[in-house]
Amino acid sequence: MIIAIDGPAASGKGTLAKKLAARYGLRHLDTGSLYRAVAYDVLEAGGDPANVDDAVLAARKLEPSGIPVDALRTPAVSEAASVVAAIPEVRSAILAFQRDYAAQPPGAVLDGRDIGTVVCPNADAKLFVIASSQARARRRYLELAARDSSVREEDVLTDIEARDRRDRERTVSPMTKADDAYLLDTTNLDIETAFEAAVAIIDGRRSND
Ligand code: DC
Repeated sequence: MIIAIDGPAASGKGTLAKKLAARYGLRHLDTGSLYRAVAYDVLEAGGDPANVDDAVLAARKLEPSGIPVDALRTPAVSEAASVVAAIPEVRSAILAFQRDYAAQPPGAVLDGRDIGTVVCPNADAKLFVIASSQARARRRYLELAARDSSVREEDVLTDIEARDRRDRERTVSPMTKADDAYLLDTTNLDIETAFEAAVAIIDGRRSND
């Protein structure tokens, strides 16, 4: 079974994907971490994330498991990940890895921006997870503030909105809901309630097959 979960930053899709993978006995791939790893490598090498050659070089030698998780979640890497993700050659370098991952038994939950539309268009279940910008900024702010007390919530909101715009408006694989994806709005849902809603959608969908 393959479950595709897409949505904007801090919508709750990563947490949901992890919990769904545990629930259905599947593997989990956070595809945003692949773009983050490319961005991290470019920045570490002193390169420019918007430069096609710098970004493609990093994408072709991608080794995401070697990078500490916290180092991938800084605001600078988030911003640069969205920039490298708009480069078609970067996306195609990462596409085969994602499809191979999904194809290994017993299947997987993949979360990202284009899983239901491009990476796994034939997924068994698809969710598009959204939440208001304010709710998402609040969640991301609380996560970042635990590590850095100088973070300001209004800056987090500005960054999230700029990143969403770039992810939505790029020409290659823009973030968009697949026609057959279920929309799940987590603005007013805690994690457990969102998880139960996702399970109901997936089980309902599967029992209709
Ligand atoms: O999900 P995330 O916030 O960790 O993703 C970081 C960036 O990577 C995001 O701004 C856009 C890009 N991304 C993408 O373009 N396609 C994906 N499938 C996953 C992430």
